[in-house]
Amino acid sequence: MEKPGERAVRGHGGAPAPGADPADDVGQPGLVCAEYTPELQLELLGIEPSMLEPPILDLGCGAAASLVRHLQQRELRGVIGLDPRAPVACGFVRASWFELSFPSSTWRTLIAHQSFALHFLHAHLRSESVAARFAHKYLELLRSLQVGGRFFYAPGLPFVEEHLDPGAFRVTRRPVPVASIPPAALDLAALYGPDGIYAASVERLR
Ligand SMILES: C[S@@+](CC[C@H](N)C(=O)[O-])C[C@H]1O[C@@H](n2cnc3c(N)ncnc32)[C@H](O)[C@@H]1O
Repeated sequence: MEKPGERAVRGHGGAPAPGADPADDVGQPGLVCAEYTPELQLELLGIEPSMLEPPILDLGCGAAASLVRHLQQRELRGVIGLDPRAPVACGFVRASWFELSFPSSTWRTLIAHQSFALHFLHAHLRSESVAARFAHKYLELLRSLQVGGRFFYAPGLPFVEEHLDPGAFRVTRRPVPVASIPPAALDLAALYGPDGIYAASVERLR
């Protein structure tokens, strides 16, 4: 059965086309594809239970999709996981975020733990054209939030957050211990200094 919010992710499912698109970064060398416990993800992102307002979309939820399953087990309605490696099950979309469009004012909560932002950072450090594509998708994702909705992600994206209109989006930063950042992001710590690694939430204000 379709859950609330499921129709809000438009595109097609199915397995990713290997190597077809350089921005389709699943399995890209140098990027760790580890998965984390729901407790760790919620703590690192600074998400309190009261902040989990549906509809919720977990971008890059992983093959085990432990956070989505955890939230679904808590009988939270309207929790969707998106990942080309997502389980083949109700409540999941097997696709890349680049294959889909995200209609405006749809989601109350977007979550992307060590997924969208990690790949965006990777592109920012290596490829201007791929980074531009991520920047475009990032803004589309922010606009897909309902007013008052929040996008929680880690690691933070200082180079793009600084360009957001503060009247439209409020950025909140939360320090993250460097030990919990995958190796691919550590060169960012070298670039930005030890205080540069953080988890972010962006709230849409209008
Ligand atoms: C480091 S894992 C993190 C998984 C999960 N968020 C967690 O914290 O346990 C990154 C995830 O991003 C997914 N991913 C990579 N590129 C993606 C894309 N273009 N669209 C959707 N998901 C993607 C990978 O398949 C992988 O499951």
